[in-house]
Parts: sequence; C-alpha cells; structure tokens
Amino acid sequence: MDFAAADLSPDRIYKLLVSTVMPRPIALVSTLNADGIANAAPFSFFNVFSNAPPLLVIGIEGNKREDGRPYKDTARNIAERGEFVVNMVSHAIVEPMVICAIDFPDGVNEIAEAGLTTAPSKQISVPRIAESPVSFECRTFSITDLPYNRKLVSGEILHLHIRDGLIDDKLHVDAAGLDLVGRMHGAAWYTTTRDRFEAPLMTVAEWRTKQKP
Ligand SMILES: Cc1cc2nc3c(=O)[nH]c(=O)nc-3n(C[C@H](O)[C@H](O)[C@H](O)COP(=O)(O)O)c2cc1C
Repeated sequence: MDFAAADLSPDRIYKLLVSTVMPRPIALVSTLNADGIANAAPFSFFNVFSNAPPLLVIGIEGNKREDGRPYKDTARNIAERGEFVVNMVSHAIVEPMVICAIDFPDGVNEIAEAGLTTAPSKQISVPRIAESPVSFECRTFSITDLPYNRKLVSGEILHLHIRDGLIDDKLHVDAAGLDLVGRMHGAAWYTTTRDRFEAPLMTVAEWRTKQKP
C-alpha cells in the first residue's frame, strides 16, 4: 500500500509513522513551571541531531486536555524558562515514566507522583531525574511553532551526566548497563536494547576483498 500524506488526517499519519519508525528513543523531559514546581513527561518524537553544537530535538503536540490551555506543560515550561533536562529511560524506570505521562493538571509534581527523585543540575536551574542513567542539561536553541499548537523544540546540550560505572576513561559506555528502552508501535509497546549485534563499517578495499570468491 502507499499513501499521499496530503490525503491522510493527522491521526492516521500519526498511526502510520509510529508503527513504522521504531524503536524510538524516549526523552523523559524535566522542566520547572513559573512557580518552580517540577514537571516531567516522556517524548518519543525525539532524537539527537548534531554534535557541534550538541543539539537534540523534541516534537511536542498541542494540549488535548480540556483545560483551555493550548500547550502541554512541558512545551509551556520550556518556552517560559528556556531550559530543560532530557533524562534517558532505562528498563528500571519504565513504570515511573508511564506515570509521568498521565494527564495530571498543571502544578502536580509528576516526578514525586511517580516515586522518582530529582538531583540538582550543574548549569541550569531545572533539576535532572536522579534515577535516570543519563541526563542532558539543555538550553533552548530554537522553538518552531507548527499547526495544531505543536512545537518542534531543539535544545543545546550544556552538560552531560552519565552514571558512574557506566562509562570508562576512554568514554566507552556500557550499553548493557544502561539498559535503555525504546518506544514501539501503538500506545503501550516498548522494546529493550538487550538484543544487539555488530555490523562493522568497511573501507572500499575491505569490501572489494570480501566480494572476491
Ligand atoms: C513513551 C511515551 C512517548 C510519548 N511521546 C510523546 C511525543 O513525542 N510528543 C508528545 O506530544 N507527547 C508524547 N507523549 C505523551 C506525553 O508524555 C503526555 O501528553 C504528557 O502528559 C505530557 O505532559 P505535560 O503536560 O506535563 O507536558 C508520550 C507518552 C509516552 C508514554
């Protein structure tokens, strides 16, 4: 089957995209509201985008709650403060991550609701989530307003936290120890990163040698 994107409603395109682009990494984004109350929510329209400058991107939908507010708390807090933390999601914190996705009203500290704890950041006022094995302190780099109150947020990574014991002096990171998860199709499917394989890159010469009978 094939589809012209213009013939599909946003809901149907969403269904097709999230069922075909997977697994997607999950950013558990911590922010602070204007009163200084911490907020966290997961986002899988997310990836790193560049290393110089170190940028990551997050796609945030409009608010579907019936509270009259156009934006999700995360989008509003990022727009107001210009700072946020992306906390990566390991298998151990999948359940708290799902609790953070519950549509709590503004002002509820989702981090505490989920039984997670915060740790101070080094360069920004927004705290990171202590239970996450990797956190990136970010300053907003750009916000692009899209239809349906969506926002495409890019953040410049100012500071990286990687849990002690998961990285060595040569910057090799222990992928098994990280035990990150990804989001799959549908609303509730995830995958681990435990089933790994290697496919080494080749030079032209190595490829040609390999082709010879
Ligand atoms: C694994 C997962 C990934 C999600 N990814 C996104 C996403 O990429 N964009 C989005 O707008 N909402 C996404 N959501 C939904 C938000 O997390 C949810 O709307 C949350 O309540 C927003 O919270 P906030 O209002 O505190 O920002 C995702 C939910 C889950 C469970």
